[in-house]
Amino acid sequence: MYIDIHSHIIPGIDDGAKDEIMALEMLKIAQKSGTSHIIATPHYVYGNTRYGFDTILEKCAELNMLAASMGIKVTIYPGCEVFVTPEIIELFEQRLVGTLAGSRYMLVEFPMMSIPPYTDNTLYNLQLKGITPIIAHPERYTEIQQNSEVLKSFIDRGILVQVNSGSITGVYGRETKKAVMRIIKEGFVHFVASDAHSDNRRNPDMRKAASIIEKNFGPKMRDDLFIRNPLKIIDIGK
Ligand SMILES: [Fe+2]
Repeated sequence: MYIDIHSHIIPGIDDGAKDEIMALEMLKIAQKSGTSHIIATPHYVYGNTRYGFDTILEKCAELNMLAASMGIKVTIYPGCEVFVTPEIIELFEQRLVGTLAGSRYMLVEFPMMSIPPYTDNTLYNLQLKGITPIIAHPERYTEIQQNSEVLKSFIDRGILVQVNSGSITGVYGRETKKAVMRIIKEGFVHFVASDAHSDNRRNPDMRKAASIIEKNFGPKMRDDLFIRNPLKIIDIGK
């Protein structure tokens, strides 16, 4: 049983599932591959995204009903993936962005090429509000690939890290795979999630990644990253 804390499964809202048919296909893949709970995390990019968190709550409830009517036994929770910007606090107060599954954790992504200078302050301000930021897929960011110590300074300040299952299986290429294995080995990673965008290349099946982690780091690490730590988020959200 896996808990997937990062997915673009809500249909027709961002660059993820393009319609209900695809969202259902993705949920079937999740169920078949042993994922029982999945957090929907549509992108939120300040100045670009037109929907607020209420829309995500509504669409999430709709997708849960649709899945149940099709006999799919996967529960979908609301969340979002916020692009780092100094406005995050206001966005949160205006209910344009929200936390993962009603918890105190928020998924935050950085630009691919470099980490903006306001990032430290922005994440600190979130922490002052009682929210723990989770950095989305740092293994894909050039700056982290070149120097993973940057991650350590975030972790030392209580920030958590999520990596993509596709990075472990090699979907994003050799540099990303090298980076993800290195940061897991260094103990800089708390969650593996699918970041699924479709029923195709970036789908919700995490089995292969889980077996690679088990083979390289043992069953405890696999369970921590795929089940135990993600369960803390869902539990808190109850
Ligand atoms: Fe994502």
